[in-house]
Amino acid sequence: MKRVLVTGVGGPAGQSLVHQLIEYGYQVVGTDIRPVDMPGVAVCRVPPASDPAFVETLRTLTVACRADLVIPTVSEELPVLAQETDWPAPIALAPRKGVLLANDKWLTWQRLNEQNVPVPRAMLPSHVQSDDHVAQTIGWPCIAKPRVGRGGRNVVLYQKTDFDELRALDDHFILQEFIPGVEYAPNVYIRRQGGSVVVPLRKTALKQGRIGNALSVVRDDSADVAALACAAARALELTGALDIDVRRRSDGIPVVLEVNARFGAHSAHAPEVLRALLDEITMQERGTSISPLILLAII
Ligand SMILES: Nc1ncnc2c1ncn2[C@@H]1O[C@H](COP(=O)(O)OP(=O)(O)OP(=O)(O)O)[C@@H](O)[C@H]1O
Ligand SMILES: [Mg+2]
Repeated sequence: MKRVLVTGVGGPAGQSLVHQLIEYGYQVVGTDIRPVDMPGVAVCRVPPASDPAFVETLRTLTVACRADLVIPTVSEELPVLAQETDWPAPIALAPRKGVLLANDKWLTWQRLNEQNVPVPRAMLPSHVQSDDHVAQTIGWPCIAKPRVGRGGRNVVLYQKTDFDELRALDDHFILQEFIPGVEYAPNVYIRRQGGSVVVPLRKTALKQGRIGNALSVVRDDSADVAALACAAARALELTGALDIDVRRRSDGIPVVLEVNARFGAHSAHAPEVLRALLDEITMQERGTSISPLILLAII
């Protein structure tokens, strides 16, 4: 394996991956919807995932640059690419069912809750009857966030006094109990053949103070967070690289906020995850190139 095509190289997940791949000596071709200047990387502009031309553009590029591996890092691309079969190179993407569940925070919550994986209490805006009803179901303050979204966009912490604003939300949002404790981003790799790698990263500063994207992380050895991340991956039938958001309740119990079925923004702090992917692809390559020889030996 020599050449890796990474999508979304202008974003934090793409950048973190590109630096690691270059350090390991891979040739990297990147894509982005905006022009990106990145030393050592040929970056091609592609349409956004919502554009009907997106899939064919990426497919053509995969062939044209003779990519040995494609790693999508843009959340919106995942459900679109998960519909595709026969990609011209190995693609680092979980099975379709899990990708679709992880893409929608309400579906994620429902599945994890059904499977007894600890999650914050949650409801949809259309379920809301009164401020007391919110108090009983998820409590105040509470979080509202888009069911399909990323980068902490439109994630708002509502107090009881904001009830009228909260009531105006539609079911494109999910409402969740506010979990006040320490936040983690366990970076996970689930091997297709079984076995996993988990590196719990602890978020040490958040963009909006109490909530938001991690501005900095440190490695952490919380075994309960690692076990929770694996349980969430199993419940959603996900494989490959995952970036999961976890917070501790005030009693210390960790719960899953959301699951990203892709590499996270801080994967460089958990290089074991990319290593696990590269090892799996190398094994696959060996498997396909060795089998004819074995066959010959048997004959
Ligand atoms: N139930 C919750 N309790 C406390 N904080 C929360 C909760 N849900 C979300 N947050 C905060 O909001 C941030 C963004 O929420 P979340 O990760 O669910 O959405 P996102 O937009 O998909 O994020 P990203 O794509 O950056 O991972 C979280 O990292 C966390 O700081
Ligand atoms: Mg998140």
